Amino acid sequence: MLTMRDVRKVYRTDLIETHALSDFSLHVRPAEFVAVMGPSGSGKTTFLNVAGLLDTFEGGTYLLDGQDVSRLSDDQMSRIRNQKIGFVFQSFNLIPDLDVFDNVDVPLRYRGLPAAERKDRIERALGLVGLSSRLRHLPSQLSGGQQQRVAIARVLAGDPRLILADEPTGNLDSLMTREILDLLEEINGRGTTIVMVTHSPECAARAHRQIHLLDGKVVDFDAVPTLAREEPLAAAR
Ligand SMILES: Nc1ncnc2c1ncn2[C@@H]1O[C@H](COP(=O)(O)OP(=O)(O)OP(=O)(O)O)[C@@H](O)[C@H]1O
Ligand SMILES: [Mg+2]
Repeated sequence: MLTMRDVRKVYRTDLIETHALSDFSLHVRPAEFVAVMGPSGSGKTTFLNVAGLLDTFEGGTYLLDGQDVSRLSDDQMSRIRNQKIGFVFQSFNLIPDLDVFDNVDVPLRYRGLPAAERKDRIERALGLVGLSSRLRHLPSQLSGGQQQRVAIARVLAGDPRLILADEPTGNLDSLMTREILDLLEEINGRGTTIVMVTHSPECAARAHRQIHLLDGKVVDFDAVPTLAREEPLAAAR
């Protein structure tokens, strides 16, 4: 589904260069559910932005759903993004003065889908997240977990192949967190690939696989036991 090889991303300001991703390599299989962990500043959001074609990168190659997306124009990137990728963020990013139905409708309108098809998709997506009875509520009239479910319905209505989630439960209490993870698991069970950034080991445990980032790289677990064995020696020196 997603293959990155030696991807580099450098943020430059007048004063400083930050290597947010350096020689970043990762393969995510179709229908896999992967959790991405790592300390603050290790490059998790940068990786999601590059993976989701929200941001460009400098070196390396990136294959998304079999297509080389390393050198696309902005238009080509946004077309693929709209068709294939759904984003879920920590802040639900709903539009406050649109009701639930209209919030889910926004990206569908943007794609120019006909009204009847949009209505079908919206009702189906809100049914899947269990909010069929809240179509005319405003975001402010919903709980945090319900708001995140609307955000997920908005993603589902677009029928993406890949969902990228950046700390989707970061603003939720433990009960609502479980509810959202159940929902993501169910969506993944229907064949949608999910990559989820999380700080919580409990959340990460719900994924098929956990990867850990450090300084813009995937930590190589095979190397860790060796390091652990060498530590006492180094300390003795
Ligand atoms: N727009 C930007 N301009 C300059 N530097 C940036 C920019 N965005 C991120 N960085 C830097 O890139 C590095 C990786 O940032 P990133 O946001 O990917 O970290 P993260 O792992 O998501 O952290 P957190 O857990 O705090 O969300 C950091 O050192 C950050 O300061
Ligand atoms: Mg982040």
